[in-house]
Amino acid sequence: MDIKKYLQEKKEVVDSSLERYFPEEMEAPIALCKAIRHSLFAGGKRIRPILSMAAFEAVGGKGEVILPFACALEMIHTYSLIHDDLPAIDNDDYRRGKPTCHKVFGEANAILAGDALLTEAFRLMTSRAAWDHLLCSERVVLDIIHKIAQAAGISGMVGGQVIDIESEGKDVDLPTLLYIHTHKTGAMILVSIQIGAMLGGAEGDTLKAFTDYGERVGLAFQIADDILDVEGTAELLGKNTGSDLSKRKATYPSLLGLAESKKRAKELAELAVGALSTFGTEAGPLREIARFIVAREN
Ligand code: IPE
Ligand code: IPE
Ligand code: MG
Ligand code: MG
Ligand code: MG
Repeated sequence: MDIKKYLQEKKEVVDSSLERYFPEEMEAPIALCKAIRHSLFAGGKRIRPILSMAAFEAVGGKGEVILPFACALEMIHTYSLIHDDLPAIDNDDYRRGKPTCHKVFGEANAILAGDALLTEAFRLMTSRAAWDHLLCSERVVLDIIHKIAQAAGISGMVGGQVIDIESEGKDVDLPTLLYIHTHKTGAMILVSIQIGAMLGGAEGDTLKAFTDYGERVGLAFQIADDILDVEGTAELLGKNTGSDLSKRKATYPSLLGLAESKKRAKELAELAVGALSTFGTEAGPLREIARFIVAREN
């Protein structure tokens, strides 16, 4: 399969759904509306919503019922990027090929745009329209929303971000680094895959296989991000390189070196593929996404 074409097609679906939820003429204070749209439509890869859609389709899910949840994942992710770039966190000036949200709209509006995206994600997932054509029970949907909150919160992304900040300039050990990566990044990627599968009706062993896949892909994704911060180009990445080194961040290359980091990322991608061994061609896109994640240039 042509994975680049697949990712492009799915990205277009995600972009047009997000456009429906955040139209240019949305009823919000103008500064907030502009700040949200600046970051949301700056051209992210949409990998989390795409993973949720690929998992949904791999277990036989059909139709558009996945879209509100897929978009909610992207909204939470975009909020995390806006806040991650703030002067108090990573202090970055460039994101998705544009100046960061706070550079254009000021820190207050960037903080509030992040707050709004996080909150609106949960409004969207709990709106009647999102539940209308669902095939799974309301109990499962509540479980899905709970899982997403958990992945975004203290025991997920936010918790990981705190240890990431605390570890700046320190010599951390591998377990701490693993904690940072699996929480700040891995948790949202894992949950994207899990909820896609759950919305498609997966449970038991099937869900376990997707969980194994998701844990491996989630960690591999952040190792690749660390590598790209050393070796990538700002043009392709849409964000500045060398950011981790300048803040003495705990990263795979800083702890294990570039060669070993690349080896581990590749191994994780193959282990992720291995987790899907009982599936057929329906899991083809997930297999290719795992390989794309460690070979990507942006
Ligand atoms: C960047 O995420 C931040 C991390 C969690 C590593 P992405 O690499 O998915 O960024 P976008 O969404 O494509 O801009
Ligand atoms: C960010 O990790 C993880 C988030 C929760 C946003 P990084 O700080 O390494 O992400 P980039 O490199 O700025 O995209
Ligand atoms: Mg960061
Ligand atoms: Mg950052
Ligand atoms: Mg990074």
